[in-house]
Amino acid sequence: MNSKNKHDKLWGGRFAEQTDLSAEIFSASIHYDKRLYRFDIQASKAHAKMLCKTGLLSSDEKSKIIKGLNTILSEIESGNFEFRMDREDIHMNIEARLIELIGDAGAKLHTARSRNDQVVTDMRLYMKDEIISIVNLIENLQQSFLKKADENKKLIMPGFTHLQHAQPVLLSHHLLAYIEMLERDKHRLCDAYGRMNVMPLGSCALAGTPLPIDRKAVNDILGFEQISRNSIDAVSDRDFIIEVLSDIAILGTHLSRLGEEIVIWTTPEFSFVSLSDAYCTGSSIMPQKKNPDMAELTRGKTARLIGNLTTVLTLMKGLPLAYNRDLQEDKEPLFDSIDTIKGMLCVCDGMISNISFNEERLKNCAESDFSLATEIADYLVMKKVPFRNAHKIVGSIVSYCIGKNKTFKDLTLAQWQTFSSDIEGDIKKILSVETSIKSKKSAGSTSYAEVKKQIKYWRKIFDNVF
Ligand code: ARG
Repeated sequence: MNSKNKHDKLWGGRFAEQTDLSAEIFSASIHYDKRLYRFDIQASKAHAKMLCKTGLLSSDEKSKIIKGLNTILSEIESGNFEFRMDREDIHMNIEARLIELIGDAGAKLHTARSRNDQVVTDMRLYMKDEIISIVNLIENLQQSFLKKADENKKLIMPGFTHLQHAQPVLLSHHLLAYIEMLERDKHRLCDAYGRMNVMPLGSCALAGTPLPIDRKAVNDILGFEQISRNSIDAVSDRDFIIEVLSDIAILGTHLSRLGEEIVIWTTPEFSFVSLSDAYCTGSSIMPQKKNPDMAELTRGKTARLIGNLTTVLTLMKGLPLAYNRDLQEDKEPLFDSIDTIKGMLCVCDGMISNISFNEERLKNCAESDFSLATEIADYLVMKKVPFRNAHKIVGSIVSYCIGKNKTFKDLTLAQWQTFSSDIEGDIKKILSVETSIKSKKSAGSTSYAEVKKQIKYWRKIFDNVF
C-alpha cells in the first residue's frame, strides 16, 4: 500500500478522507454476513490454488495463503476472530486478517477477483448447503406424518370443505395429503438447487479479467455443475435467492395450514387431537390453559417468509445491471427465511410425532351429521337416477330431516320411499361411515385399499424408516 496513503480501507487508495462513522455503520454487513465465513474461505482456497496453477502465485505464496486461511478458520470457529465493522463485510474481514497474518502473499489473494463475484460464489455455496439441510428436515417431517398415518390407518374423521362437514374420510388420508404437499416443496427446492449450481467466480467486477485464470480449475475444486457463461449476469443475478425464498414461502404456507388445523383441532369444540405438553405453553393468568403456541407461531412466522420474498423481489425490480450495492440487502431476508423455516420444520415434526388423535370424537363427528348425503345420491345414480335429480331428492330428504330433527338412520323405508320410489331396503346398508369409506373406488380416494396403497408407496420411498 502507498505509504503516503493514510486511508485504512483495503479499497482506500483514491480516498483522502476517512469514511464517516455513520456511513460505516450504515453500510456494514459483517454482523450478518459473517455466517458465510466457511464458504468464503473455501472459495478463497480454490481461487488461490488456481492462481498458483496459472502462475499468478508462487507455490510458496499459495501455501502461505492456505495456511493463513486455515488459521482464520480456526480463529473464527474457536471464537477468537475479531469481526470488525470498519472492515465492512466478511470478505474484507477475512482478507484484511490474512494480510495481517502473512503480509504480501495475502495481498495477492484478491488477484483476478472482485467482491462482486466473490459474494455470489459464497452465497451459492452456502445456499446449496442449506437446501440440503432443509430437504432433510422436510423428509423427517414426511416420515413423521407417514408413521402417524400408518398407526392410525383405520381411523375415520369428517372430511371438510368450507370448514363444514363434507364426507367421511380416513384420518390417514388427510395426513398423507401433507406428505404430498411436502414432496412438492422438496422438489421445488431441488429444482432451485439445480439452477443455482453454477460457479460465478472469475467474472470479477462484471467484465472478466485479462489475467490468465482458469475458471474450470476453480470449479473442479468447488464442485458446481458448470461455470457461468456471462460475467455480467453472474454478478447481477439474484434469481437463485428469489427462487429459494419463494420455495420457502410456499413450504411455510403449507406448514401454516397445518398450524391452523392444529389450532382448530385442539379447541374443546373440535377436540380432535391433543398435543404433547412439550409443544404447548400455559397462560400467565389463566391456570387451566394449554395453548397451541407452536402451531400459532408456525402460522404467524409464515408472514415473514412471504414478506422476505416480497422484500427481495422489490429490491431487484428496479436495479440496472450489473452489481449495485443494494444487492447486499438480499442477505438478511434470506438468512431469516432459512432460519425461520428450519425452526418451523423442527417444531412441526415434534408436534406431529407426539400428537394423539381422539378416535371416538373423530368418529362421532363423522357419524353425527348428513355427510353420507353424497353416498345416498350415488346410490340413486346406481339405480339409474340422473345425478342432478338424485342431488335434488337427497337435498329434500336432508331438509325434511332437519325440520323433524331426525338423522338419515331414523327414517323408515316408507319414509325414504316418499322421496323416491327408486329407494329400496338396501339403502340401510350404505348408511355407515365405514361402508362409505370402503365404497370408494377411484384411484387416490379415501378407501382403505387406496390409502393402504399410498402408505405402501411412501414406505418404499422412505425405506428403512420403521
Ligand atoms: N457486502 C457486499 C454484498 O453483500 C459485497 C460486495 C461488495 N461489492 C462492492 N462493489 N462494494 O453485496
